Amino acid sequence: MTTQFEQLKQQLLDTQHTWLVTGVAGFIGSNLLEALLKLNQRVIGLDNFATGHQRNLDEVQTLVNTQQWQNFSFIEGDIRDPDVCQLACKDVKYVLHQAALGSVPRSLNDPATTNDVNISGFLNMLIAAKENAVTQFVYAASSSTYGDHPALPKVEENIGNPLSPYAVTKYVNELYADVFSRSYGFHATGLRYFNVFGRRQDPDGAYAAVIPKWTAAMAKQQEVFINGDGETSRDFCYIENVVQANLLAATSDLGKSQVFNVAVGDRTTLNELYYAIRNSLSEQGVTYEKDPVYRDFRAGDVRHSQADVSKAKELLGYMPQYRIVEGISLTMPWYVEHV
Ligand SMILES: NC(=O)c1ccc[n+]([C@@H]2O[C@H](COP(=O)([O-])OP(=O)(O)OC[C@H]3O[C@@H](n4cnc5c(N)ncnc54)[C@H](O)[C@@H]3O)[C@@H](O)[C@H]2O)c1
Repeated sequence: MTTQFEQLKQQLLDTQHTWLVTGVAGFIGSNLLEALLKLNQRVIGLDNFATGHQRNLDEVQTLVNTQQWQNFSFIEGDIRDPDVCQLACKDVKYVLHQAALGSVPRSLNDPATTNDVNISGFLNMLIAAKENAVTQFVYAASSSTYGDHPALPKVEENIGNPLSPYAVTKYVNELYADVFSRSYGFHATGLRYFNVFGRRQDPDGAYAAVIPKWTAAMAKQQEVFINGDGETSRDFCYIENVVQANLLAATSDLGKSQVFNVAVGDRTTLNELYYAIRNSLSEQGVTYEKDPVYRDFRAGDVRHSQADVSKAKELLGYMPQYRIVEGISLTMPWYVEHV
């Protein structure tokens, strides 16, 4: 049976549209760029390299053909500057807004900058998209919005109190999107990502996410630290599922002004994750035999997370194609080569 995503890819190959990807030099943004260029779409990218890298754009260039690469234009700029947002949205049909400062600990250390980028920057983008009559605005929301709500799996309408400044910013994005829909008839779709992973996710720095951080540590034979008892769980989502959700959300009439969980619907503990990465690395010829080092729980972290993805399945035709183990085995060769 042909999935909705396969049909969409065929339609896109037949018709070229102009897309704006903000945060294009980052992990998720550069994967969206790669997918869109491979579908012969025209892409404008916006990034200020706060946490993204030129090397991600260079890598995408090596993965597409010359003609596809010519469909890409890049604006180095900051979403905190309204003029930059206006310029970037000109003649754009679809916006995939990924630019933000991620990381719960970063937001606890510097809530003001996270607020500026993730709320003021978001608002600048929303205004620019509305004023330039963008057809559809899809933005990166976050599972952190569930906060302290205890229910599992997470269903879109039941959220708790935010547990970090980062979670506040992502929730405020949803509130602004909702108000823009009701006040101006400008519709934006939020995708609540749950722990995304894959190629080009940054392994370096204090705010690296768990999968790249542990993979790099194992590849370098360094210690792997587990925050808490290792029974904290997450719905880890391979990047290709996230690409699928973005493309479907941008082109769907049913998802407008809605938020959707984007994950798999599985739950993996950190202890299980540790062995999944270790086993996959060993298949790549990297043997790691140290035991993990357990340390304190981290402030602001949610204990368990698992998505109910039925809303995205029903309204967008989203069908996550990769579960965690497959995603890990597709990701590890990249880390073995790059760290
Ligand atoms: N990775 C995940 O698991 C996850 C989970 C939930 C939500 N998200 C959200 O997805 C989006 C992308 O995350 P990612 O994992 O690719 O992170 P990333 O850090 O790799 O990418 C973010 C990109 O945004 C750019 N950026 C930051 N501030 C900017 C500014 N002021 N102006 C222009 N560009 C700016 C960075 O340079 C970077 O390239 C973010 O909005 C993040 O909050 C990610």
